[in-house]
Amino acid sequence: MKKIIIDCDPGFDDSIALMLAYGSRAFDIRLITTCAGNQTLEKISKNALKVLEHLGIDDKVYMGAEKPLMKALEVAEDVHGESGLKSDILVSDTKKSPEKNGILKMYQEIMSSDENVTIIATGPLTNVALLVSSFPDVLARIECITLMGGGIHKGNVTKYAEFNIYTDPEAAYIVYNCGAKINMLGLDVTHKALINGDVIDRIRKIETKGSKLFIDIYNNNKEFYEKHTNLPGVPVHDACAVAFEIDRGLFEVEELNVDIEVKDLERIAMTKLVDMEKAQTVSVSMDIDFEKFVNYLCEALENLN
Ligand code: BDR
Ligand code: CA
Repeated sequence: MKKIIIDCDPGFDDSIALMLAYGSRAFDIRLITTCAGNQTLEKISKNALKVLEHLGIDDKVYMGAEKPLMKALEVAEDVHGESGLKSDILVSDTKKSPEKNGILKMYQEIMSSDENVTIIATGPLTNVALLVSSFPDVLARIECITLMGGGIHKGNVTKYAEFNIYTDPEAAYIVYNCGAKINMLGLDVTHKALINGDVIDRIRKIETKGSKLFIDIYNNNKEFYEKHTNLPGVPVHDACAVAFEIDRGLFEVEELNVDIEVKDLERIAMTKLVDMEKAQTVSVSMDIDFEKFVNYLCEALENLN
């Protein structure tokens, strides 16, 4: 079974990514780590625990970086709310506390694994950057880094920049240039994974703990997308990164030379296309078989009871 670490900042779509990962039964999930992004580290770590607790999953959550490498943390309260995860179900506090030293734990988990480990990163890349720069020997043991971030010629914070990369551009620069295989699921593809009424009708009929939480999260988040975007549904960005590791056949991928803009302040955090010699190739997903994606999602939600 594929061994994975999920590094996340839940976040409504990170929570859906967690549900897809656990419900798919496709992975040996070695570790969940958290990175400040959508909200403060404390809030998003609690959210991760709440999601797991609600689903009856006993795994621990390890906290990583509290702030980006160079910038101050700018949370996405407008999208994910004051708690970082708008929900009517997950209202009471978790009885558990998150563990500390997530980056060290990542290193130990990868080095002690008998097989290479895949990192699925659905938040800013601070933890992954600290991991590969503090412990470069880990690189030989990382199968690949599959991440939600960026967009070719697309942004959602600025015209050029997507939230995860914008939150910590220097970390993204380190990761995109670290030598590991990078699979990028950016706005090009995540804006094609849009949940709306038809899918919701299907999910509502599943009636498991997982499907009920999905509906709750969707209901609490759809208003933002209706009011502030032209998208005909709610993009489940982070779930695309998990889906990529479940079945790469769902995605149309282009091998592109991508780097991160860290100097030009107007274009800061842009995932930019560069000359062949200057960068390693990144596998960029450009399209998704949405019908099959929904099938995987529904199957996973059926298993979460
Ligand atoms: C990304 O930013 C966050 O707000 C979401 O959780 C997702 O990872 C989308 O731009
Ligand atoms: Ca996220």
